[in-house]
Amino acid sequence: MKILVTGGAGYKGTVLTRKLLDRGYDVTLLDNFMYGYEPVMHLATNNNLKIIKHDIRNGIPEIGKYDVIFHLAGISGFPACASNPHSAQLINVEATRRIAEDLAPGQMLINASTTSLYGKSGAPCDEETPVDPVSTYALTKYAAEGILHEKPNVVSLRFATVFGFSTRMRMDLMINDFVYKAVKEKVIVLFDSFAKRTFIHVEDAADCYLFAMGHFDSMRGGIYNAGGNSLNFSKDEIASKIRQKTDFSVINSELKDKDLRHFIVNFDKIERLGFKPVKTVEDGIDELIRIYGFYEYYSHYKTI
Ligand SMILES: NC(=O)c1ccc[n+]([C@@H]2O[C@H](COP(=O)([O-])OP(=O)(O)OC[C@H]3O[C@@H](n4cnc5c(N)ncnc54)[C@H](O)[C@@H]3O)[C@@H](O)[C@H]2O)c1
Repeated sequence: MKILVTGGAGYKGTVLTRKLLDRGYDVTLLDNFMYGYEPVMHLATNNNLKIIKHDIRNGIPEIGKYDVIFHLAGISGFPACASNPHSAQLINVEATRRIAEDLAPGQMLINASTTSLYGKSGAPCDEETPVDPVSTYALTKYAAEGILHEKPNVVSLRFATVFGFSTRMRMDLMINDFVYKAVKEKVIVLFDSFAKRTFIHVEDAADCYLFAMGHFDSMRGGIYNAGGNSLNFSKDEIASKIRQKTDFSVINSELKDKDLRHFIVNFDKIERLGFKPVKTVEDGIDELIRIYGFYEYYSHYKTI
C-alpha cells in the first residue's frame, strides 16, 4: 500500500509517520515545513519514506497513486487560525476542497477533524449533536469536513485536544502549555477554570489513525469522535492533576477566555468498534515534566 501523510512534519504527523514506518509501510510525507525540518530528521534516512516539500494550496502531486491519504496538513488550533484567518480559509478549506475533487473512488482518505466543532454549550456531545463552531479554526475544520464527506470514501476523526511529546512540539495545546508554565514559571493563570475539554495522548491519536485505516471498510463515510470517555476534564481538574506532580501556584483570572470551548464528549461510537486510548493525562504530565527539565521552547513560527 502507498500511504500519503499531508502535514506529516506536524505535531501528530511526525508520530503517525514514525508508526507507519515501524510497521513497514511505504510512506510519503508531504508538508510545507512551516515549522522547520528538525521534527522529521530522525525519520529522513528510512528507505521506505519519501519526503516532499510542497504546499497543498497547489493541490497534491500525483494524488491518484496513493491507496491511503491521511489528511493532516492545515493551520491547526485556535491561536494560529485567529492570527492567520485568511491562510486558515485557503489551507483548511480551499486546499481541502481541491483534495476532495481529486480523490478517486478506490482511495481511502482519513481526515483530521476536531472536537472543537462542539463549541461552548458545556453539554455532552456525540456525533449526532448539532455542532457549534465558535472560532475560525472550528469553522474552517467544519467546512472541510462537509466538503470531504461529499465523497463516500472518507472517514473523519474528530480528535480531542492532543497532549504529550512529539518532535514538533505544540505549546498552544492546553496540557502541554499548563505543564510548561507549571515547571518553568511556577504559576498557571486560569481563565474560565470551569470549562471542560477532552484530551488524548499523541501516541494514542496516532494509533487512532492506524485503527481507522485498519477498519476503513466498517468506518467508511463515517464521522467519529476520537478520544476516550475517561479523558474529559475541566481546566481546574487538569491543574489539580499537575499539582500532584509538581509545585506551582494558580491564579484564577476574572477575565473571560477568548477561546470559548466548553464541552464533554462521548466516544462510545469508536469504542464500540474497538478503539480506546491507553495513556492517561497523568502519563502525559509525567512525560512532559521530564522533557521540560531541559527543553526551552522558542517559537519559529512563520506567518504564511
Ligand atoms: N493537535 C490537536 O490537538 C488536534 C486536535 C484535533 C484535530 N487536529 C488536526 O490534526 C491535524 C494536525 O494537527 P497538528 O496538531 O499535528 O498540527 P501541526 O500544526 O503541528 O501540523 C500541521 C502541519 O501541516 C503543515 N501545513 C500547514 N499548512 C500547509 C500547507 N499549506 N501545505 C502543506 N503543509 C502544510 C504544517 O507545516 C504542519 O507540519 C490538523 O489538521 C488539526 O486541525 C489537531
